[in-house]
Amino acid sequence: ARIKLHGFHHYMQKEINEQAAIFADILDDSGCDANLAQLLDNNAARILCDIEGITLLASGSSYHAALIARYWFEALAGLPCTVELASEYRYRDAVQHHNTLIIAISQSGETADTIAALKYAQSQNHTHTLAISNASPSTLMQLARFQLFLAAGPEIGVTSTKTFSTQLLTLYRLALCFAKLRGHLPPATEAAAIHDLLRLPRAASDLAMITEQLQEWAHKIFDSKQLFFVGRHLYYPLAQEAALKMQEIAYIHAYGFPAGELIHGPLTLINKDLPVIACLPWNRLTEKLLANLQEVRARGGELFILSDAGLASAEHFNVICMPNNLHDLNPILYGIALQTLAYNTAILQKNEIDTPRYLSKSVTKV
Ligand code: AGP
Repeated sequence: ARIKLHGFHHYMQKEINEQAAIFADILDDSGCDANLAQLLDNNAARILCDIEGITLLASGSSYHAALIARYWFEALAGLPCTVELASEYRYRDAVQHHNTLIIAISQSGETADTIAALKYAQSQNHTHTLAISNASPSTLMQLARFQLFLAAGPEIGVTSTKTFSTQLLTLYRLALCFAKLRGHLPPATEAAAIHDLLRLPRAASDLAMITEQLQEWAHKIFDSKQLFFVGRHLYYPLAQEAALKMQEIAYIHAYGFPAGELIHGPLTLINKDLPVIACLPWNRLTEKLLANLQEVRARGGELFILSDAGLASAEHFNVICMPNNLHDLNPILYGIALQTLAYNTAILQKNEIDTPRYLSKSVTKV
């Protein structure tokens, strides 16, 4: 049966808005404990206890989720982690340690490149394989030894929103499970992580408090020819994801950069007509990122900053203060805010929101 819009104008808008409820359902169903047996199956801990690394394979937004997860697998679980674009990996003579867990991530479970990349890994005798998807059964889920279902509900909009966020939630929980399995998770760290997981649904619904401010930003940027998104650490791949959203539905030349690289080239492009949107959470890199942004400001660039750092707005300096700080889980909240910004920008462009030109929901041909 056709899914109704229930008063929303577009599926993308509906799917952005239902994320808080989806997080609550997921966490109610499976709890927040770092328990691999519960998340995967009873054999998982025995089979995967001695893996020496993780390789993540994906395309598009799923690839950006994987790039963010790399920070978690490394920092929490102490596991070496590589992230590969499926469309490149499948044609490369990639070499992985034999005791690597291969994780293929795909919202649809039917992306041809991601399926081919997983098959390529299996042809190289990798037997530890895990598929993460919002579609079950699906080709990808059938191929892998282990499966993780996203439970985001059907996503109709071509642009990934709730499936990107639930990929992040799932990957974070998986990283916590590996951290625990490997004896890398001190009780205080685990307790803090569970505390943040429990706060996630409410924090996602609190984002309604900044919707109007994001709409004001959309009014300021929608007729720009180009946009830069910048961030550091977890927020570098998030900047890439935000740029992809703008390309997909607002048809703007948007690019996501690691802020520390601006000085190595892209700074030459800054001028008053190039808005720069930065994710600036309060953490050990805030001062560094602020220094990068001063370089932008000194060249007349107009800055748009999403932050929880208590910054004051100034000329050429627009600030939205995020209502909550969930530490490692913040990329989910910043991601939803950036989805809302892309949606409202595309609305002002009067674009087809749910069916962007030239794109399809699932790329099943190569
Ligand atoms: C995201 O908004 C896009 N629709 C696209 O990049 C998508 O993430 C990509 O095609 C991968 O799809 P999958 O997750 O179904 O494999």
